[in-house]
Amino acid sequence: MKTILLVGIGTGNPEHVTIQAINALNRADVLLIPDKGEAKGELVQLRRDIVARYVVNPASRVVEFAPPVRDPATPGYTERVADWHGELARQFGQLLAQHVAEDGVAAFLVWGDPGLYDSSIRIFERLSTDAPHAYGLEIIPGITSIQALTAAHGIALNRIGEPVHITTGRQLALGDRHGDTLVMLDGQTAFTGLDDDLDIFWGAYLGTADELLIAGRLADVAERIVEARRLARERHGWIMDTYLLRERG
Ligand SMILES: C[S@@+](CC[C@H](N)C(=O)[O-])C[C@H]1O[C@@H](n2cnc3c(N)ncnc32)[C@H](O)[C@@H]1O
Repeated sequence: MKTILLVGIGTGNPEHVTIQAINALNRADVLLIPDKGEAKGELVQLRRDIVARYVVNPASRVVEFAPPVRDPATPGYTERVADWHGELARQFGQLLAQHVAEDGVAAFLVWGDPGLYDSSIRIFERLSTDAPHAYGLEIIPGITSIQALTAAHGIALNRIGEPVHITTGRQLALGDRHGDTLVMLDGQTAFTGLDDDLDIFWGAYLGTADELLIAGRLADVAERIVEARRLARERHGWIMDTYLLRERG
């Protein structure tokens, strides 16, 4: 049986990598690094830096691969994602067949934590359904962008005894806000469509040397965030940002 380690590496700071993650990376014969193209080259480099800094196992090899992208021609978000997962599962199956011995160990370096808005666990479940007993899966938790955001702003995620709702920009734009709401994957600045009296705690490139933070009353800082995003995107070619919306008072 091949062992697959899904290793959470944190969200941009090599010091986010836990000792459990370092030990897992050193157990692997093969370290699999996704390369999403030149625009996101900084993210590949960060993974390479993590390997260079922490992996001392002389027998391990790095394999970089270009994951497929979602096909914009497929109608419907759910169908598009399902098709994409199918393609990723096929690619992961091929990579494991090609590079990992029958009793070998492969580690995937997963951004943040593998359990938060990441498809790796679902893709490996799919692989295991297609080939029962072929793979053993272990998940190594990582620091998430949520933790990086609240720590950077010096705030607690929840208020005393209160829940926090976690959603995406796409869902927020459809009205999905319930009390304090943490928003991820928002390429469309969905916060600009809100009229409620809220505070926003926004962060981009959290954990990296380029970290950006803005906080304040949403009505006062929304435009500043939109402009900061635009400039940063122009400079880097990509942006990842996350924010907490907190009801005032
Ligand atoms: C596909 S999800 C992956 C989340 C990741 N598994 C985690 O644990 O944070 C990508 C989204 O996570 C958030 N994100 C990840 N890294 C970030 C960072 N360094 N700064 C700000 N947001 C980040 C953004 O909302 C981005 O759109």
